Amino acid sequence: MNELQTPPKNLVLIGFMGSGKSAVGRTLNQRLGYPLVDMDQVIEQRAGKSIAEIFEDEGEGVFRQRESALLEELVDPTAPRRIISTGGGVIGSLANRVVLRQLGYVVWLHAPEAIILERTSKNRDRPLLRTQDPVAEIQRLMAARKPLYAEAAHLKIDTSGLDCNEIATGILESARYFFTGHF
Ligand code: S3P
Repeated sequence: MNELQTPPKNLVLIGFMGSGKSAVGRTLNQRLGYPLVDMDQVIEQRAGKSIAEIFEDEGEGVFRQRESALLEELVDPTAPRRIISTGGGVIGSLANRVVLRQLGYVVWLHAPEAIILERTSKNRDRPLLRTQDPVAEIQRLMAARKPLYAEAAHLKIDTSGLDCNEIATGILESARYFFTGHF
């Protein structure tokens, strides 16, 4: 890979709802000092309402359009290095998966379904899991999305039993190799 093809040195976190992207993003932000872009938060701030309200008022399609538009906007070679924390469904479109890899080093945080269920059942922030049977929905979405996370990611981290600092250390060590071309 020559210099021109080297992706910008952003760290991009992908993974299922409740896999720890926002928390690990904050840890990386503290350790590296790079600004943190939490995509869901940006979408909420711009819309002036929560993700759940966007889904309710405008539908998932509108949310996905905003998500893809924001992702495109983040591809800015003049921007400083950032940590980008995405929403769990960002890998749904091929176009988004391509953009993710243009953005930088893409890390898939993977957590077992039982942990996802435990974390996501603590609040009702996630419209896709407001169903009669969230367990079945997690299983269905996870099965459909796993290959897409795998396709988009440079690195998969199984987060079971690891705290945010340990996960961040793993990411930073691998990213160093990636960005210096030692992969
Ligand atoms: C979604 C995940 C959410 C948010 C929206 C849709 C998804 O983000 O973008 O509710 O499709 O998995 P988190 O992964 O941060 O919960």
